[in-house]
Amino acid sequence: MKSNANLLILNVGQLITCASDGKPKRGAAMRDVGLIENGGVAVIDGNIAAFGKSADVEDSFCSDHTLDAQGKVVAPGFVDPHTHIVFAGDRLDEFELKIEGADYLEILEKGGGIISTVEKTRNASLDELVDTAVARLDKMLACGTTTAEIKTGYGLNTETELKMLEVIAKLDLVHPIDIVPTLLAAHAFPPEFREDRNAYVDLICGEILPKAWDWYVNSHFRAKKTPFYADVFCEKNAFDLQQTKTVLETAKALWFGLKAHCDEFTNLGASRLSIEHGATSIDHLDAISDEEIDMLAASDTVGVITPTVNFNLGSAQFADARRLIDSGCAVALSTDYNPGSAPCPSQPTVMAIACRYQKLQPAEAFNAATINAAFAIGQGQRTGSIEEGKRADMVIFETDDYRQIAYEFGGNLTGKIIKRGEVRNLKL
Ligand code: NIG
Ligand code: FE
Repeated sequence: MKSNANLLILNVGQLITCASDGKPKRGAAMRDVGLIENGGVAVIDGNIAAFGKSADVEDSFCSDHTLDAQGKVVAPGFVDPHTHIVFAGDRLDEFELKIEGADYLEILEKGGGIISTVEKTRNASLDELVDTAVARLDKMLACGTTTAEIKTGYGLNTETELKMLEVIAKLDLVHPIDIVPTLLAAHAFPPEFREDRNAYVDLICGEILPKAWDWYVNSHFRAKKTPFYADVFCEKNAFDLQQTKTVLETAKALWFGLKAHCDEFTNLGASRLSIEHGATSIDHLDAISDEEIDMLAASDTVGVITPTVNFNLGSAQFADARRLIDSGCAVALSTDYNPGSAPCPSQPTVMAIACRYQKLQPAEAFNAATINAAFAIGQGQRTGSIEEGKRADMVIFETDDYRQIAYEFGGNLTGKIIKRGEVRNLKL
């Protein structure tokens, strides 16, 4: 007797499972996308009930709702493990300044950059922030992203950081993309603390982190067992190593999971520090040292790389992701979608850049943007691959070869999105 499924996807030319052994992929395993030719998937109650050869799935399941994939590629929905998409205004003037040669960290030092977005975000209403972020999530979904992390960090005071958390919670409730929240109060020093930076670290540790944790405990995120992360930007003109240590240790004591922006421009020792403190991910890694690469490889921390930042700066220098993978690090890809350093909603675009400038093979880029990205935000057991029991988050791409998704750029091969088993047509 056949079991009844809510949805069957049959005749998949290439079923890209990105299946792992319950851990992020490393080394040679990153070149294996778990490809099944002539594949099929059965979905029950929004979760993957079975996958394998199309004929075998059809033998075991029946359904009122069958999708014929017509030989196309079906893959896990992308996971974007690092975004800053809640903000007001834009940074179009800064875009022009950078084209004329202005430096990102100099702009920040002069009170522009992140700080200009902070002023606008403080003045924006909750509804305005929700509406503009929903529009960004729509673009991400249209590019195949079905789960994303979102950071605060444009408030830099208690009131606005908490307002941003409220926005992030609302986004998770109103938008199909599943969200993981991160508190990034330690993103930059707000103007009112420019002369006494340690006083802002005191405010973060004494007030913002504890209040944010109380907020989380009463939020729907806690109820659905979504983790809550704290993040720090360790960089020249941002948080120094000692300040980073203080924030990470305070956050850890409150039970936050840890993340850090490390080595984006300058190596201040944040990668070592964060790995030693058991961070779930360390992100950017452009200036990570050889010794820290070995530490990362020997740890459970995921290395998240953000090649959109280098591309957006017009730089020819990228994080040495080839070396990270060859050394055995678990590497994930993210858009870092934000108004300043990376105005990019598309994981396929990130993959296209990573393949060309960081010498990832398309298979490695796929695993980095799905299963490893899921582990980078504590969601590796729930999504990021097509495996039994995982959320039915999948994309049908308008191609019969998965390598085309990193090969083509500037367009969008996303055909249909299946989110928690619900099919959405998203042809742009
Ligand atoms: O990941 N590095 C710090 N934060 C962001 C940039 C945010 C902004 O410029 O608004 C990043 O690159
Ligand atoms: Fe960032």
